[in-house]
Amino acid sequence: MSQFDFFDPIADELQKVESQLSENVDSELTLLNDAAVHLIHAGGKRLRPAFALLAARFYRKDLSDIIPMAVALELIHLATLVHDDVIDNSSTRRGAQTVKAAWGNRVSIYAGNYIFARALALVASYQRSDVVDVLAQASMKICEGEIFQMLSCYNVHLGLKNYLRRIERKTALLISVSCELGAMLSNAPVKEIRALKKYGYYLGMAFQITDDILDFVADEHTLGKPTGSDIRQGVITLPALYALWHDPRREELARLLASPQACASQAEHIINLVIESDGIDYAYYASQHFARQAQRQLEVLPDVIAREELAKITDFVLDRDY
Ligand code: IPE
Ligand code: IPE
Ligand code: MG
Ligand code: MG
Repeated sequence: MSQFDFFDPIADELQKVESQLSENVDSELTLLNDAAVHLIHAGGKRLRPAFALLAARFYRKDLSDIIPMAVALELIHLATLVHDDVIDNSSTRRGAQTVKAAWGNRVSIYAGNYIFARALALVASYQRSDVVDVLAQASMKICEGEIFQMLSCYNVHLGLKNYLRRIERKTALLISVSCELGAMLSNAPVKEIRALKKYGYYLGMAFQITDDILDFVADEHTLGKPTGSDIRQGVITLPALYALWHDPRREELARLLASPQACASQAEHIINLVIESDGIDYAYYASQHFARQAQRQLEVLPDVIAREELAKITDFVLDRDY
């Protein structure tokens, strides 16, 4: 059984994804193999494969053609996480040690690249240049998102537009593409492919906003990764932006957030300032807005079980604590 009831209609396929994930990082180099398998076995929600499968479920009963793509999408996600944990200097992920913490930076870079290359090999088997193009574009954008984030650290003058651009690239587009590809590979009508792509986009935006909220308020154990890491690195996310706009102590906050020393040594104080500013409520409000937009895209889709499950995922994204 999968961990979420909205995965029920694709539970058998997700199980196949699971076994193929480990098979697909199998390398003669034990080091690479161990590093990749470690993260796969640590857990993870498997949302991206599920989106591809659910999108395809609208149009077909037999999803065996979609499984390699579902595996590839999770592998691309994994590759970005392995690298992200180097960039963010994170020690835990999915409740386990990160590849960075267990094997160090060099192995993480190789492992991330290797996992990504294995994904490419799976994608190549479809022999469809339109599909490759969609994934190549999304992969470039993810890197851009991470780079924008790095360039935006400690900059308290950047606003909402910069934030939305960052989260769109680093998170929303891969989720969008997961939905889009599931439909594309099932020869769905163009209008419906577009609706699923937009659903994924808006859902991905809501998803990253809740990730950013959780970085302030989650229980670290439940979340499976460190909290407070955005502030410690000077990454200014939506709750902090709100506090910078509206809090009576915004000048103090701006001074602190602009200082790498203060972000590192006074993170708890900064986090409290943001929490006391109602920035968390504001960010929830924004993620609800995106989740509603996602819901709205579903209206043009056939009224089948997959549509219900996609609607349920929008609720999960808002309520999640991990
Ligand atoms: C983590 O993604 C990175 C973000 C885009 C926020 P997930 O929250 O989907 O991570 P796993 O796959 O469940 O570990
Ligand atoms: C998401 O960013 C990383 C990518 C999608 C590349 P975060 O840095 O916020 O993700 P977590 O919180 O470490 O999972
Ligand atoms: Mg991170
Ligand atoms: Mg985060």
